[in-house]
Amino acid sequence: MSSLNREQVLGVRHWTDTLFSFTTTRDRAFRFRSGQFTMMGLQVEGRPLLRAYSMASANHEETLEFFSVKVPDGPLTSRLQKIREGDIVLVGRKPTGTLVIDNLLPGSRLLLLSTGTGLAPFASLIKDPQVYESYDQVILVHGCRQVSELAYGEELVDGLRRDDVFSEIIGDKLEYYPTVTREPFRNRGRITDLIASDKLFQDIDLPPLDLESDRVMMCGSPSMLADLRNLLIERGFIEGSHGEPGHFVIEKAFVER
Ligand code: A2P
Repeated sequence: MSSLNREQVLGVRHWTDTLFSFTTTRDRAFRFRSGQFTMMGLQVEGRPLLRAYSMASANHEETLEFFSVKVPDGPLTSRLQKIREGDIVLVGRKPTGTLVIDNLLPGSRLLLLSTGTGLAPFASLIKDPQVYESYDQVILVHGCRQVSELAYGEELVDGLRRDDVFSEIIGDKLEYYPTVTREPFRNRGRITDLIASDKLFQDIDLPPLDLESDRVMMCGSPSMLADLRNLLIERGFIEGSHGEPGHFVIEKAFVER
């Protein structure tokens, strides 16, 4: 039996010259936990061309969603960015990944820290009611170079807040903090600096980072992850993994080509 499902593209949205998202059908047997990733891609010259992609849809949704960069000469994304409704994409049947709440010790506040398409696993998690059962507060931070790159996340959060059912579930638990580094915006600066200086917490009027209450997931560029990891370790946070829950977990944002 093939390790790949063939899923039909249901819709594609282009957010910027470098970012797009799409939804597909979902095989009924494809189960995953919100925050996980799988191999996904296209059949190219008779062979599957796959990359790791986080599901941006929650595990309870009937369709799958992916959020991707477009790299002009990227073997996969140069082709994938051209998909249209009705096309077929290949989706690996074995999801995996560390960004699941079981890998974290109990806590009361969940920080989801992302840059670029590292937002994708958190798009899944913030749509999962279990996250709001497990935490009193969920802080989603998304750092990008330009304001236009925030659009996917802004629309997502806006949609959840407007949704009759979901707004009940999230109540006032979800805090969304977009930040931009290379042009003017209401929030400016790198996530690392915003945490180290406490500015992030001052801006949202909440207490600063605290080992007792805070659990952290991070996904984004390798240098951001390395710097954030050091910052957390200096403050006594321990990295978690499968079978050994900790105060924080890490996943790099995969698709660069
Ligand atoms: P900056 O513009 O200051 O480099 P990229 O597109 O390179 O992946 O970056 C996405 C976002 O992540 C940008 O806002 C970028 O800020 C930020 N970033 C890059 N490296 C780091 C880092 N080491 N720590 C924190 N943020 C970072």
